[in-house]
Amino acid sequence: MTLKSIPATQRLLNQATLELVNGSRAKVSKTINQLREEFFLLKHQIDKRQWQALTQELLHHPITDLLAEAPQIEHSQKWPRGYRGDAQMMDLIYGTGQTGKKLAHTSNLGRSIHETQADWPTHRAAIRRLRTIAHAVDEQAEKTNYAMAILSVACGHLRELSFSHTWQNQQFARWVAMDQDSRSLKLIQEHRGTNRLEFWEKSIVSLLRHPQTQQFDFIYAAGLYDYLNKRIARQLTAQLFSMLRPGGRLLVANFTPNTTEMGFLEAFMDWPLIYRDLGDMTELAAVLPQGIAQFRVFYDLPNENNRLVYLEVTRKNA
Ligand SMILES: C[S@@+](CC[C@H](N)C(=O)[O-])C[C@H]1O[C@@H](n2cnc3c(N)ncnc32)[C@H](O)[C@@H]1O
Repeated sequence: MTLKSIPATQRLLNQATLELVNGSRAKVSKTINQLREEFFLLKHQIDKRQWQALTQELLHHPITDLLAEAPQIEHSQKWPRGYRGDAQMMDLIYGTGQTGKKLAHTSNLGRSIHETQADWPTHRAAIRRLRTIAHAVDEQAEKTNYAMAILSVACGHLRELSFSHTWQNQQFARWVAMDQDSRSLKLIQEHRGTNRLEFWEKSIVSLLRHPQTQQFDFIYAAGLYDYLNKRIARQLTAQLFSMLRPGGRLLVANFTPNTTEMGFLEAFMDWPLIYRDLGDMTELAAVLPQGIAQFRVFYDLPNENNRLVYLEVTRKNA
């Protein structure tokens, strides 16, 4: 399938290109959101092979260069760390790290697109996820009398620290930051120091091949399961559960199929994710052994605007 064979989409893209070149801030915002909605519908109207051919063709459409004036889209057209969803991109979404500096050198068009994206439910959900995790850490800290061991799996830049009282008051025994990317770990170390903070430069595959015997009171993974197929996600869930101390808690987040930004993310940002709903998350825990005290799957919002689903499992006290 080529763009020519879907004239409505071709017209939409040509019109959108004009609006981005000439449009006011409000028009740019409207255009970006129209692309978001239309490409979500289109992704569900054509088959996977056609969608892939289309997204390949889009790489050469004039709209691509215009969209790249926005920092997140520019970043996604390069994925400079060699993999999708790196911590630098997450910083652009959270508005942390180098975002301010980057925006200072961004065109008006780029800023308008950036601000439109910042208002997307996905982006707001990602920021909420930092808070959800920080609150869960704080809650668990109280239960463990502030002496807990925490493991962040695929930690990125560990931005949730800024929202956690446990971190701010240093009321924990150890916080282990694990990620495959040494550059992200180095940045955390430079910003946060090494007091009770430990770094594991490790991939999920290596964690599964060489299981750790160390035990934790709280283990969490945000922005990781969205990249893991069902087999690996299940294995990892079992592995992480086995690393919980009695009474310990595991919390895992995943974006949901209600993410209407997915068409835009794939078509213009080369950012496909694996989306999961309550049932999918429940299935990931189906392989867990006996010893579960509490099991919960829940959405970040109690309506169709949800973007994230959480799996939370607490291990029985001994
Ligand atoms: C979308 S970011 C999320 C970072 C952070 N948890 C957050 O919520 O902002 C994904 C992170 O997962 C890490 N990652 C991806 N695949 C991984 C793997 N197979 N093993 C270890 N880390 C991985 C990346 O390096 C990146 O830092």
